[in-house]
Amino acid sequence: MQHFTPAEWQSWERFYRANFINSLTGFKSASLIGTINAQGVPNLGLFSSMVHIGSDPALIGYINRPLAAAPHTLANIKAGGLYTVNHIQASFLSQAHQTSAKYPDEVNEFTEVGLTEEYLDGIYVPFVKESPIKYLLSLKEIVPITLNATFLVIGQLEQVLMDPSFQPTTDGFLHLDQAGSICSNGLDAYYHTTLIDRYAYAKPDKAAEQL
Ligand SMILES: Cc1cc2nc3c(=O)[nH]c(=O)nc-3n(C[C@H](O)[C@H](O)[C@H](O)COP(=O)(O)O)c2cc1C
Repeated sequence: MQHFTPAEWQSWERFYRANFINSLTGFKSASLIGTINAQGVPNLGLFSSMVHIGSDPALIGYINRPLAAAPHTLANIKAGGLYTVNHIQASFLSQAHQTSAKYPDEVNEFTEVGLTEEYLDGIYVPFVKESPIKYLLSLKEIVPITLNATFLVIGQLEQVLMDPSFQPTTDGFLHLDQAGSICSNGLDAYYHTTLIDRYAYAKPDKAAEQL
């Protein structure tokens, strides 16, 4: 086996180290978070750290980098309390990736990158019209991670929107591969996905069983 130690990765050039460490944790979802600022300017950001916190109540978190690096999404969430999370398809991947650029606060990132704002009645934050699966979150807790000045931002699920051509299975599972939702690795690589198998709930006295 190749064996890497802290002394070694601390000696690496910073982008090499960031790519290595960022890829190591594996494939992740990649979503666009939609917000709006106090002046009414919509904002989009690409986030691959979405994490399931719990199903009842339905809580979903993401990690926001230090404020100097990624200020707008978190400021908008704090100010208004609502934000949208939008799955990405290959058909609009370039536009989605482009939202990770550091645009000034007064720039509408939807028009800048070429994506379309979509609003639900009574909801002031924008969804991404092109996205086939998207949901609305309301801010519940911001947990500061003092180790590196990042934040775990936790929201409660308020609404889910799905393209009518895509249905959950009879047991509620979402075949995201069939919806064309992409996933990511590191900060610049994106993937289609293919299902290997689904398995029954694992029990100690029973061999793993495919569904
Ligand atoms: C593939 C990819 C994944 C990213 N994931 C995150 C993430 O999980 N958290 C984060 O704070 N920034 C992440 N970023 C960086 C943000 O997209 C970028 O800082 C963006 O400009 C943040 O928007 P904001 O300035 O409106 O807050 C990611 C970028 C890319 C390309």
